[in-house]
Amino acid sequence: MTLEAKGSMASKSSNRKALSAVDAYGDSDLYPTNAVSARPQSDPKPWADRLLADKLSLVKKYYPGGSVLDICCATGEHLMALSPDIETGIGVDFSQRYIDKSVKNMIHYQARNLTFIRGDATALPLKNGVAGLAYCFSSIYQIRDTGSVIRELARVLCPGGIAILDFGNRRSLNTYCLRYYTDWPQTFPITVPEMRAMLRANDLAIEEHRSYQILPLWAGLPRHLWPLLHPAWQELMRRRVAGRMIDEWISSLPGLRQFAFRHVIVCRKTATSSQNTMQEQR
Ligand SMILES: C[S@@+](CC[C@H](N)C(=O)[O-])C[C@H]1O[C@@H](n2cnc3c(N)ncnc32)[C@H](O)[C@@H]1O
Repeated sequence: MTLEAKGSMASKSSNRKALSAVDAYGDSDLYPTNAVSARPQSDPKPWADRLLADKLSLVKKYYPGGSVLDICCATGEHLMALSPDIETGIGVDFSQRYIDKSVKNMIHYQARNLTFIRGDATALPLKNGVAGLAYCFSSIYQIRDTGSVIRELARVLCPGGIAILDFGNRRSLNTYCLRYYTDWPQTFPITVPEMRAMLRANDLAIEEHRSYQILPLWAGLPRHLWPLLHPAWQELMRRRVAGRMIDEWISSLPGLRQFAFRHVIVCRKTATSSQNTMQEQR
């Protein structure tokens, strides 16, 4: 279950030491295999499911052909849904229990064009240029070394390939609220200028930048912020107007955008980075 979906079901703040991501995803009750990642719905109603639908629609819109790479794939639910529309798919996650479940799902759904590999997002076990499109959803902000994830993602993209990245903004109300969820794994959000600079440094040119979560829309803590955390906001923000959720319209307003938590950025690997990759391969 992603942070945005855990919502009020989350265990409340405690004095326990923060779990490391390796422990949380590897072997804890916090993210069991049947709840770590949501299965895409055909006509989603809740805000979190609509957000997922938006992200997957970007994958379909920009898919250039070839292999689709899901970095931090958890139990492979998203690739399973994309499977009929893509040539091949590769899921990578560092949790063995999720990879085992992905393989079971793949057999169950007869998604024969998918492969699941255990691996670290900061050192992907893949050759240069293998993917036409790579995405990483609801995970980058859980990894301390964001720069290595972006570098690895750019490395495994083919020339002209597409990256879809789902960043968390440090300068947001959501990041403030996360401090109160002390028994969740630590997060490492960055600022919007840092996101853009990291993409530039890896020759990933931005094609589309979408923003969400000016309000957290899941958190119940801290209690003194209750007017901003009331569940009624989710009911309003999930509504679609002209194809986009009200959340996205408000989170994209100039001035507010830099304080929205979630930034879903579509980029294309430019010629410069492709040349570097080809030189490395020689
Ligand atoms: C919140 S879940 C998101 C899963 C899925 N992408 C989604 O959107 O539902 C985070 C996932 O990232 C994986 N993960 C976290 N750090 C990782 C790392 N350094 N390398 C590979 N996987 C990692 C976890 O095992 C978990 O499956």
